[in-house]
Amino acid sequence: MELSSRVKGIAESVTLKLNSKAMELAESGKQVYNLTAGQLPFRPPQDFIEAIRSELDFLKSYQYSPVSGFVELRKKIIKHIEQTRGVSFTNLGEEFDCVVSNGAKHAISNILGALIDPGDEAIIISPYWISYPEMIKFCRGVPIEVKSSIFDVFTPHISDIRKAISEKTKVIIINSPNNPAGIHYSDEWMQEFAELLEENTHVNVISDEIYFEVCYYDPKPSYFYQKKPELLKRTIIVDGISKAFASTGLRIGYCVGPKNICKGIENLQGQLTSSANSLIQRAMMNYDFSSSSQFLIPVKNHLRDNANVIREKFKEAHLMKCWYQPASAFYFMIDFSQTLVFERYAKNRTDKTDYSVLICEDILIELGVVIVPGSDFGMTNSARLSLVLHKEAFLEAMDKLVNFLNGGSLKTYLN
Ligand SMILES: Cc1ncc(COP(=O)(O)O)c(C=O)c1O
Repeated sequence: MELSSRVKGIAESVTLKLNSKAMELAESGKQVYNLTAGQLPFRPPQDFIEAIRSELDFLKSYQYSPVSGFVELRKKIIKHIEQTRGVSFTNLGEEFDCVVSNGAKHAISNILGALIDPGDEAIIISPYWISYPEMIKFCRGVPIEVKSSIFDVFTPHISDIRKAISEKTKVIIINSPNNPAGIHYSDEWMQEFAELLEENTHVNVISDEIYFEVCYYDPKPSYFYQKKPELLKRTIIVDGISKAFASTGLRIGYCVGPKNICKGIENLQGQLTSSANSLIQRAMMNYDFSSSSQFLIPVKNHLRDNANVIREKFKEAHLMKCWYQPASAFYFMIDFSQTLVFERYAKNRTDKTDYSVLICEDILIELGVVIVPGSDFGMTNSARLSLVLHKEAFLEAMDKLVNFLNGGSLKTYLN
């Protein structure tokens, strides 16, 4: 059977290949340090678990909800966004709504499906979350990449975004706090971004805020629409329960945006996938969202501790050239091109080949450490590591990793 060209065009993640190799090694009794996790190794907040339990007896928990989600929940989400972001959706001369979907990923693909016509351009910032370009291409749109780098702590230059904007630009996706960089953009950056959007009235924004609550160093994330609330009319905010409630498997995400866009998304979701999980929606109606900030305190302490481990280990190993301060989400990016080990791969100083996959394979085989090649995020000769592993194992993994980065380790692990 012949696959459609749309599906044939979807890139397969190299992470999957590495993960299966890691599983093979673990099964053969080797110690494997898995630094790929995009989820917390904790159960959700206890009150949330109780809220789910108490909905189990009701027939409505097992039946379809309205396509966009229960009205009461949608109102609660809108209020939650207003309170946590310090904005108001009233008095803007436009109506706003919310659509609840099967995760933030589903929310984003819905939004792109509702916005993008063939040939429309969508600007993404690299390193980007792996799914954005694939979703854009699936909608027959054109992803336009604006690069950021470790030298600017992965914050793109506003002038580069300005250059990337054309008449065909339909949307810019920003993701702050950011996967994979583990940073959030500064308040000054958001101010400049707001000004750029004011200059370009045809451009809309998807603000992927799935890591909004996962920020372990002040200042907290801020957003362009807080500077100029009129921009909310061109913004769709995405959030969900995967990260803040440690509930990736429950599959609830949502978007809040102008009502006409939400109506389009509702039609799309209604025909393609239908409403999201009723049980979890009902539990959310009876759960105080603000208590997740209490739940996240030890999580943030843990992430901060592991971020400190990176700083200490990089300092000891004289690797500060490839260090920056992560402050949010679960991740840190390593730029291999700034390390001694890179000489093992690059043929000469001008070699621009991407060795990310090869280097990550060697790191797995030589050290038993699994990290995600930067090629999955549109960044060459780099990798993403996750900070969620418990501290002892994380320390061991970092010891091995810095030794490798300094050109140390040689095929000792398999012997
Ligand atoms: C930046 C970003 N956006 C969206 C998502 C999707 O989240 P969900 O699990 O709610 O689909 C993720 C998941 O890792 C993510 O990292």
